[in-house]
Amino acid sequence: MTEKIKNKYKEFFGGEYLLVRAPGRINLIGEHTDYNEGFVFPAAVGQEIQFAIGKSGDEDSCTLVSLDYDETFSFNLSELKPEPPDSWQNYILGVAAEIIKSGRKLQGFNLVFSGNIPLGSGMSSSAALECGTCFSLNELFELEISKLEMVKLSQMAEHNYAGVKCGIMDQFASMFGSKNHALRLDCKDLSYDYFPLNLETHTLVLCNSNVSHSLASSQYNIRRQQCEEGVKVLNQHFSGINSLRDASLEQFNVAKRDMSEVVQRRCKYVIEENIRVAEFAKALGANNLIAAGSILKKAQVAMRDEYEITCPEIDFMADFANSRDDIAGARMMGGGFGGCTLNLVIMEHVEGFISDLNVAYQEKFDKEITPIRIDVANGVSLIS
Ligand code: GLA
Repeated sequence: MTEKIKNKYKEFFGGEYLLVRAPGRINLIGEHTDYNEGFVFPAAVGQEIQFAIGKSGDEDSCTLVSLDYDETFSFNLSELKPEPPDSWQNYILGVAAEIIKSGRKLQGFNLVFSGNIPLGSGMSSSAALECGTCFSLNELFELEISKLEMVKLSQMAEHNYAGVKCGIMDQFASMFGSKNHALRLDCKDLSYDYFPLNLETHTLVLCNSNVSHSLASSQYNIRRQQCEEGVKVLNQHFSGINSLRDASLEQFNVAKRDMSEVVQRRCKYVIEENIRVAEFAKALGANNLIAAGSILKKAQVAMRDEYEITCPEIDFMADFANSRDDIAGARMMGGGFGGCTLNLVIMEHVEGFISDLNVAYQEKFDKEITPIRIDVANGVSLIS
């Protein structure tokens, strides 16, 4: 991938350039908790986007080349605006716009990028594109933006240019990931620690349903609003509740009578998912993978029935995995409505599980799953 990008940069632009890599992420548990100021447990992975970036020599004009889409796009920094929804350009334009908005000065640049994070898989290729762009621009123009601010600028790019009111998990994981460690992040005060991931008997396997989330961004924003509605009601009963993170199950049980049935389910899910993150970390710390797996199973059911972010393909895949003795537990991973399941599988049984699942999935949906092997990697970095 690096050679391809270098060659394209030389062919298109020539001159000096930097090379940067930005990883995708997995999330062990803690889904849709980040924008509720809760807890998440992600890790950066080996699947990544790589960038070659250099100065265009002009104050204003920039050119982007996406090798994977085989598209070139030129724009002026003085005329930044979002492209139509779902355009890859928005993640890059959004980051440039947020950097400028923060009071820094950019000059024209050229950027070539390519990646191997499966799109629509829930592995955050968008966060990798944002964080990699931000890091590249920071290096190229020596802007001295801290990593944490780069995370926040990237998140705002997603809000304001891609139109998804995402939480901070994906960008945080892409930026702060550490090889062989998961990140335990408190999305309220952004404190975090690194949690060693050596599972010994089991391994983590992603299975891509190859169903992508067309509903995902609209439903995502709706979930966020429903949680905010819940917080409003909780606030009428108890003081000091600014997010679902601040609410206990006991408080929820008192306030819920004033919530619609849907909002009740959403709030219950988030409050309990935060508890599940803590329980999961405890089980993993004690190397009790059976206990950890059973928490994944509970999370899957809650995502299906309470938060309602799964889909028939994902439910089938998770149920299939969760009915087997060689799987400690499985659940959908990421924003929802498709993407991957995360499976905690006995090491020697990975091949058998994948092939059995594939046969069953094909029979049911006439489609294949794609298994994705995971290496836990470092966050965004300069290659050279
Ligand atoms: C998407 C968002 C994240 C997070 C997850 C769900 O990946 O970008 O902020 O909310 O969904 O956990």
